[in-house]
Amino acid sequence: MTEQELREELVRLARSLYERGFSVGSAGNISVALPDGWLMTPTNSCLGFLEADRISRLDRDWNHVGGDRPSKEVFLHRAFYETRPGTGAVVHLHSTHATALSCLEDLDPEDTIPPLTPYVVMRVGRVPLIPYVIPGDPASGELIRGLEGRHPAVLLANHGPVVSGRDLRSAVYAAEELEETAKLAVLLAGRKVRLLKGADIEALEARYAAAMR
Ligand code: 13P
Repeated sequence: MTEQELREELVRLARSLYERGFSVGSAGNISVALPDGWLMTPTNSCLGFLEADRISRLDRDWNHVGGDRPSKEVFLHRAFYETRPGTGAVVHLHSTHATALSCLEDLDPEDTIPPLTPYVVMRVGRVPLIPYVIPGDPASGELIRGLEGRHPAVLLANHGPVVSGRDLRSAVYAAEELEETAKLAVLLAGRKVRLLKGADIEALEARYAAAMR
């Protein structure tokens, strides 16, 4: 895909997320790897109304070299690219149900999104909690680096998910899958739930996870 095609794909997928309620206002940001740098949504932009020519352009050293000023969450994104080789895109959302779970006092910090369905296991696996820091604080990047690339997605406490993928479409689909599973978890709260078990999860990991992330 050319850079222009990637810009247009980013505008299209971001608008789709916005129109289906996965982001509101100016919440959320998305980045995509290029052969010589990154594209990133501008700070304070609305995912529903991005303009391809105004998307921020960063060089391979993360210097801002074109378009509007990049997202203040650049540290979150950079930590994924630098700890997970093969990452082609990163999506951060404040999607409602995942963010609701991120506010729960008794959430398991090692495992925030329950393995309810095969697709969430295939797309994001076990999702750890990152302790709360103020949005845009570089400490968020350090906390993600501390996971040493073991997880394609994390949940930021009282804030929302950050999801990586091998390309833009994979990262967006994984972010959607994470949010839908969080929604199921909220719907099922208080009910006796049958989770996928160790052997089911291992089979999914063996057959699909590597290809889908
Ligand atoms: P930006 O507008 O700087 O991308 O920040 C939005 C956001 O989601 C903060 O977490």
